[in-house]
Amino acid sequence: MTETRKPKRAYVETYGCQMNISDGELMQGVLADGGYTIVTSPEEADVVLINTCAIREHAETRVLGRVSQLNGLKRERPEMVIGVTGCMAQRMGEKLLEDAPYVDLVMGPDGYRGLADTLSQLETRRAAPAARAGKRGPQLAVLDLSLGENYQGMEQRRGDQPTAWIPIQRGCDHRCTFCIVPYVRGPEKNRSALEVLGEVRGLAASGVTEVTLLGQTVNSYMWDDWTFPRLLSEVARVDGIRRVRFTSPHPNDVSPELVEVMALEPSVCEQLHLPAQSGNNRTLKRMSRRYTVESLLEKVDLVRTAVPDIALSTDIIVAFPGETDTEFRDTLDLMRTVRFDDAFTYKYSPRDGTPATRLPQEQFIDSDVAQARLAELIEVSRGIQGEINAAEVGRLEDVLIERAGRHPGQVLGRTRRNKVVVFDGDVARIGRYARVVLESTSGATFAGSEVEVPAMSGSA
Ligand code: 5AD
Repeated sequence: MTETRKPKRAYVETYGCQMNISDGELMQGVLADGGYTIVTSPEEADVVLINTCAIREHAETRVLGRVSQLNGLKRERPEMVIGVTGCMAQRMGEKLLEDAPYVDLVMGPDGYRGLADTLSQLETRRAAPAARAGKRGPQLAVLDLSLGENYQGMEQRRGDQPTAWIPIQRGCDHRCTFCIVPYVRGPEKNRSALEVLGEVRGLAASGVTEVTLLGQTVNSYMWDDWTFPRLLSEVARVDGIRRVRFTSPHPNDVSPELVEVMALEPSVCEQLHLPAQSGNNRTLKRMSRRYTVESLLEKVDLVRTAVPDIALSTDIIVAFPGETDTEFRDTLDLMRTVRFDDAFTYKYSPRDGTPATRLPQEQFIDSDVAQARLAELIEVSRGIQGEINAAEVGRLEDVLIERAGRHPGQVLGRTRRNKVVVFDGDVARIGRYARVVLESTSGATFAGSEVEVPAMSGSA
């Protein structure tokens, strides 16, 4: 007699970086292959997976709150499975299972290939008489980090959004002293260039026109004799691909070869994220960033010479242990010198197990000082951003329409330089390109209106 079972429903909720968003798509691919139906809310799901970030303490606190909230749902439906995946799961491991006994599964970033099997294993254990008698359900932890897992041969499950994230590299071989990533994602593992190209061709055939290549230090990619510039130029030439972006590069691997590809390939967007972290050489050294302010500025010159209209963004950490006020002011100077189009700014957050946490206790900076530095940095970087964007009002831009705007009748899209523009338009045109004149800016984003001229490139 064959038992017919209802397909199980799974829900994946993702926090954190683009790599995590891409991992969420990977997990959904594994689950769909394993016979699960993917649903869009935890209320509908038999399996709820929270895909987490560990980069700063705040990211983790937020997730812990969310997980305990989900326990409310589980009280109504005890058969529901709650899994915590990703970097925070890797970092906290078994401790998370102890602290939150209603969590059934923790799984780190190298465990997703076996996700559906692990869930079946959990189900088998739950059905065992011993487990049924116990108060606490069986819990599983999948925390092995792999030297080789690059998820080669596996399909992401993407929505029908017009842009796609393509992971080309996982893990990180750097040891920046503040950063948890190498400990929760393991060493750098690159994916086959041929497979990446095959995936991009497939996406282009299905109508995707914009791809973003992803990796922790994406431009140090190396597979066989494929360097990142070579892969980038091949991806840029795939028929149907109109826009290529990549993130996050390490400044040291911003090479003449890379900027040449950026300058020569029309589909590579005029945009670069260049995480500076600090504008002070002593701090950069103590962060183990392996560049100086001077060499960073040379990279900026290199890129701006090759691609004059490029939009640059950065990441900055304030109040790294031992950072003096004068050293912090060097960071403000760097901001004023480079004039980044956008800056992601953070207060240093100690991460257990990273080298910076072993610095002498007296070097750790009071939170009110850190807060004041952050506020000042934000003011400076927003001021610069506002000036740059105000000077761009009046420009005519190709905009890829990504989604509905906040108000009915409006759509939101991005320019090639990754600036967000809202304008009147029909949501039926999501995925299409429009020629938009930038009419005003809030500082960070633009309002514009579409013009009825045939597009030079990229319109549909
Ligand atoms: N504290 C604060 N910010 C951090 N980042 C990474 N680790 C930490 C930390 N411990 C920031 C860096 C990085 C970005 C993704 O997060 O700026 O580039």
